[in-house]
Amino acid sequence: MKIVVKKGTVEKAPRGFVRVSFTDKSKGTKRFVKEKGIETLEIGIGKPEEMNLRRFRVLCRAVVQAAKANKIKKIALQFDATPKLFVNLKGVSPEELSQLIAENFEMANFDFTHFKTKPKEGFDAVEEIISYTSADLGVEKAVQKGQSIGQAVNACRVLANTPGGDMTPTVLAKAAKEAMRGLPVKVTVLGVTEMKKLGMGAVLGVAKGSSEKPTFTILEYKGGKGAPIVLVGKGVTFDSGGLNLKPSSSIYEMHMDMSGAAAVIHAVALAARLKLKQSVIGLIPAVENMPGNNALRPGDVLKSLSGKTIEVLDTDAEGRLILVDALTYAKRFKPAVVIDVATLTGAAMSALGEHASALLTRDDALAERLAKDAEASGDYAWRLPLWDEYEERVKGTFADLKNVPGGSTSRLGGAIDGGMFLWQFAKELECPWAHIDMAPRMTAAPGDELAKGAAGEPVRLLLHFIEQWIH
Ligand code: BES
Ligand code: MN
Ligand code: ZN
Repeated sequence: MKIVVKKGTVEKAPRGFVRVSFTDKSKGTKRFVKEKGIETLEIGIGKPEEMNLRRFRVLCRAVVQAAKANKIKKIALQFDATPKLFVNLKGVSPEELSQLIAENFEMANFDFTHFKTKPKEGFDAVEEIISYTSADLGVEKAVQKGQSIGQAVNACRVLANTPGGDMTPTVLAKAAKEAMRGLPVKVTVLGVTEMKKLGMGAVLGVAKGSSEKPTFTILEYKGGKGAPIVLVGKGVTFDSGGLNLKPSSSIYEMHMDMSGAAAVIHAVALAARLKLKQSVIGLIPAVENMPGNNALRPGDVLKSLSGKTIEVLDTDAEGRLILVDALTYAKRFKPAVVIDVATLTGAAMSALGEHASALLTRDDALAERLAKDAEASGDYAWRLPLWDEYEERVKGTFADLKNVPGGSTSRLGGAIDGGMFLWQFAKELECPWAHIDMAPRMTAAPGDELAKGAAGEPVRLLLHFIEQWIH
């Protein structure tokens, strides 16, 4: 999509462009009107005094969605044509606003059409947007950056949306390589032999039930001299649950159980593309969790890379198993900070609903930092506790640890249990660590004004975090 920012008023829009105007009618109102004889799409923003950045993001997307729904390819708009509607955003710099507009236009213009036959008239997508402004320009860079961010989010959504049969651990490793093409990022892919040699018993254990071989991908972007930020992404390319097979209603969409991996891949690529002066490492343990005849059994004990043994009470708690080997592997990079991203628990969704990822860390400063980045980026997250009081449950009966601290039928604090299990390994890192359970944000929620399917989170949160770490 072409996004152009021009100085001037929307009246100057060239022919063929449908104008968009805003009113204080209730949020979500969309209708066509004639303004001075020119076809105009009028969009209600709700009460101006309730406008804020959260609402503005959704409004930007609603503009594009309305255009797509009406098969409009070219639109022209001007947010400051009706300054009274947006007074609340006065304090936001033109650069920040332009970036945000471009980012959200891109995100809204995305649809996952890879497996659809192209209609004669093409898919519904906006081709060009002219955003007029009465302010002085100098925001081109910000627009460009916003587009790059939106495109990274969309690329992440493509990976996550790709069905499990097409997105195996091997394909995911290849996709990671592909995403780094032309970028100064070193890519290494470990296979079964290397993982056996290292002793990654947890990754290998989960992979046993599938005929698809596991992979472990390492992405290294050297943007600065200091200690790197290490990002770990859960790459379960399909989560059937294993022998603790998921019920039919829960197995749908489990091809997106590699959403954490997809986000890490595209956050690293974005850091490199934007030439950020910070080293970032991405670690992607990838497996398919299947109940094949060689599958991990409930009760089996795995020896992790750290040496700690794990009693597998439930083969459906597989994400934490592959993550801990990656957390241990992270140590060799002497990281400044480690963040893992995973669609780890349905319990995180029970706790927070569909609008925020769960954020778990023992480090208050890091929690505060990430909470700010979450709010500023639009990838919302909310903290859950990881207090000592929760730790007792994670001890194993016949091994050092159990993978489901509350036992496989526990209904208590499942997202915390998952985080507490990871902490048993993260505590050996000697640097701050945080866990983002993004299960609640795996797919777009109603009201997001995004296409059905993967939400592409938390690419923007990770980018914000990396950027602020530099300063
Ligand atoms: N991938 C799932 C969690 C999930 C569920 C993500 C729904 C997104 C949407 C994870 O591997 C899982 O199965 N977790 C179990 C843990 C339980 C066995 C302790 C769960 O949430 O039920
Ligand atoms: Mn599972
Ligand atoms: Zn899973």
